[in-house]
Amino acid sequence: MPIFATPDSWILETRNTAYALGINASGALVHRYWGPRLPYESDYPPARDYGEWSSFYGPGEINLQEYPTYGGASYREPCFKATFADGVRDTVLEFRSSEVQGDELQIVLEDAHYPLRVTLHYGVLEDLDLLERWVTVQNFGTDPIRLERVLSAQWHLPILEDYRLSHLGGRWLEEFQWVQEPLSHGVVLLESRRLTSGHQHYPWFALDRVDAPALEESGELWFGALEWSGNWKATFERTEFGSTRVGIGLNDWDFALLLAEGESFVAPKSVSGYSSAGFGGASRAMHRHVRSRLPHRDAPHKVLYNSWEATGFDVNEAGQTELAEIAASLGVELFVMDDGWFQGRDSDRAGLGDWWPDARKFPRGLEPLIERVNALGMDFGLWLEPEMVNPDSDLYRAHPDWAIHFPTRARTEMRNQLILNLAKLEVQDHLINVLDGLLSSHNIAFIKWDMNRNASEPGWEGAQEPRALWVRYVEGVYRVWDTLSARHPNVTFQSCSGGGGRSDLAMLTRADQVWPSDNTEPTARLKIQHGASQVLPACTLEAWVTDMESDRMPPFGRGEDALRRGKLPLEFRFHVSMCGTLGIGANLLHWNDSEREQARALIAQYKAIRPIVQGGELYRLKSPLTGAFSALEYVSQDRAEGVLFAFRTHMPEPVVLPPLRLAGLEPAALYRMDGLEGTLSGAALMNVGISLELKDFSSVLRRFYWV
Ligand code: GLA
Repeated sequence: MPIFATPDSWILETRNTAYALGINASGALVHRYWGPRLPYESDYPPARDYGEWSSFYGPGEINLQEYPTYGGASYREPCFKATFADGVRDTVLEFRSSEVQGDELQIVLEDAHYPLRVTLHYGVLEDLDLLERWVTVQNFGTDPIRLERVLSAQWHLPILEDYRLSHLGGRWLEEFQWVQEPLSHGVVLLESRRLTSGHQHYPWFALDRVDAPALEESGELWFGALEWSGNWKATFERTEFGSTRVGIGLNDWDFALLLAEGESFVAPKSVSGYSSAGFGGASRAMHRHVRSRLPHRDAPHKVLYNSWEATGFDVNEAGQTELAEIAASLGVELFVMDDGWFQGRDSDRAGLGDWWPDARKFPRGLEPLIERVNALGMDFGLWLEPEMVNPDSDLYRAHPDWAIHFPTRARTEMRNQLILNLAKLEVQDHLINVLDGLLSSHNIAFIKWDMNRNASEPGWEGAQEPRALWVRYVEGVYRVWDTLSARHPNVTFQSCSGGGGRSDLAMLTRADQVWPSDNTEPTARLKIQHGASQVLPACTLEAWVTDMESDRMPPFGRGEDALRRGKLPLEFRFHVSMCGTLGIGANLLHWNDSEREQARALIAQYKAIRPIVQGGELYRLKSPLTGAFSALEYVSQDRAEGVLFAFRTHMPEPVVLPPLRLAGLEPAALYRMDGLEGTLSGAALMNVGISLELKDFSSVLRRFYWV
């Protein structure tokens, strides 16, 4: 039983961690504890009431409110703000009741005066050592209530410590970049205002103590993420009393929702955890969580080919067939045709919205290509960007008002495209019909669902509350996606937004994988994959081997020669991609026989290690963020086998690499490892380590297993 409840106190326990809350002497719901699980219920601290401290601090302001509202004399970042029909914008939530249903605790709060009910939900993921929090808001009266901020949770850290914040920043071509900074007094804000979860910040955080920093495999860490694919925000507030609180949920920037009589709103889930095994422990918990909710769970993620970087918009039946034949001969399992296949799509200036094959490129439709791909033993996949429309398209000419816009303003185009207003039911229904038709009439096994611009002029004509667009749009995307998935359960989806602009955890309950970045240069990818791996398991990270040059190579010569030499060795590129879900994105026509031969062998090798990479546990042995040497390891769940990857970029000679210590092995078991004589115990591999010899721009992949 992971939930211990009394009428005024609750302890939520997972296998190794605990979270406690309760009602204090003033009747307020406050946080009590978040950290390692303690032996006895009486060990958890009581629900404290810090009372009124001076005339400059409201009663209860210093308390660790479990779900603070905008109301009373309170000046912290609130989780909730509403305006009632009479103009009052002060919310006073009082405890009403609690209920335990299996692994979920619900705490019901109601406003002291108005018919507003806020239910706090706590889901205990006992085996994963994670806790989910979200809220339901209900108007049980008749007058409308305008919601202006509804965060999913407030997470309190143990007080009186100084904390360091780790998060993932970035931009297009440089997603998932690792950032660490101390929290000082004030508020740090991470957010997206772009309609998607965004390239700029990933909705994930980790906090550790400045005086006892977490390392990769040790130390305390409090971490969490938000499961939402639209505008979000996370505030990290350090108060003058040494308390540290994290608010996370929907972004309240330009946001409002009207709750009419009897209506409810359910906020997205926030999932968090406490790790005593550092960043590695935290990310393995997140990986298990994400994997457990993927649409196709444990099914292996196939080796795919995608010709976007090779052919751009220049696709047609003959060219794609030629590439498919080579791809199949290398062992590729899924052939994906990217952008350029549909009506009028010769460049990014036209076509989005008209989702039928362009008759000039596919005079016989898509069927002959799909049949050929299937005959070659591969599944067929297709690129779509359903939420978009080019002004130069039949769809836009028929429905210009379906694009998000303000009638008196220019419609800002980015990549020559506008966004369809998926908050509108008729737009959702149109997309469901068109895409259902496409999937029903072709043998399509995989969809790369792209979203290539951010919102501007966010108008929604006719809506009672147009600022609800930010939320209703995302719910519309979910409805279209979920309807298609329900009708076509065998189709696998990949979420892409100009690379990793929409890679959040809510997407990964709909898509089995994300496209982490349009940057496929392997040294950049090592860093992107390193950041993404804090949250996302390897199976969700699609990684193509391409011919993108490395700007980290020393310059050699000019022209063609420099281009060729700017590419890292094929094996290095493969090894980087084999750390995720392997794909190929290079122009296969340009690969010579020996490159194809090498690719064939590496793809076969990937298929052999795939269960370990895609379903095993990740240990980041040496970060690619510092120095020119990095290493990581995947170990099967039973620790019986694993695979080690190591990469070296450029280092001045001579360089002797330090011994590399492995992790996560069974200490007493004997392992055999490729390239090593005899056997070594898990303890020796972890404590003494192995020495690797690696030349500049080279890599190793070594398998090991119990004997
Ligand atoms: C985005 C994606 C790319 C490719 C193009 C096609 O940029 O990230 O992988 O699909 O769109 O236009």
